Amino acid sequence: MTDYEKIFENNRRWAAEKSATDKDFFRKLSRGQDPDFLYIGCSDSRVTAEELMGADPGDVFVHRNIANVISNTDLSAMSVINFAIKQLNVKHVVVCGHYGCGGVKAAMQPQDHGILNPWLRNIRDVYRLHKEELNAISDEEQRYRRLVELNVEEQCVNVIKTAVLQKHYLEKGYPVVHGWVFSMEDGLLIDLELDFEKKLKEIQEIYNLGGSF
Ligand code: CO
Repeated sequence: MTDYEKIFENNRRWAAEKSATDKDFFRKLSRGQDPDFLYIGCSDSRVTAEELMGADPGDVFVHRNIANVISNTDLSAMSVINFAIKQLNVKHVVVCGHYGCGGVKAAMQPQDHGILNPWLRNIRDVYRLHKEELNAISDEEQRYRRLVELNVEEQCVNVIKTAVLQKHYLEKGYPVVHGWVFSMEDGLLIDLELDFEKKLKEIQEIYNLGGSF
């Protein structure tokens, strides 16, 4: 059996196992979705959203791109955020980065990355915002790990800058934005424990798009 054929074999086994555990599983699934989480993460093949959260189909609305970047001109990311908050009423928005992120590493190299330049520039902007802290870290690996964390924080800030997040939170009290880092060495998720309300207040000093808080 080829690797390609194996995917379908795996899929049939998975579908059978799901039905065996809960015979209505796929009937419920086909009725519609009502996820509580929007997960925004890296496209990296090792950072699988649902699997590392122990989540089932239907539990998590997912958006992944290189280095979990939220750019306000990215129509895809903005549509996902709007749909998840307005239509799906998610209670949590998670931005999940990971140590060992190739996108973050590439952004730190003095190199022309072609079509990736404008994308990676979002991460260079994060570096510039936190230059003093990062430059003070002499160990390159530690500096890189810290940039992964700061990139998550700044992308959370970019989510909080959106009108849909601000308005919805002020009206309904959710969703809350969380920053996570996946540590590949031990498989654990680290909650960066972002102070969401404090961040929202800071952001609204300048980027207030939905009344005061
Ligand atoms: Co990555």
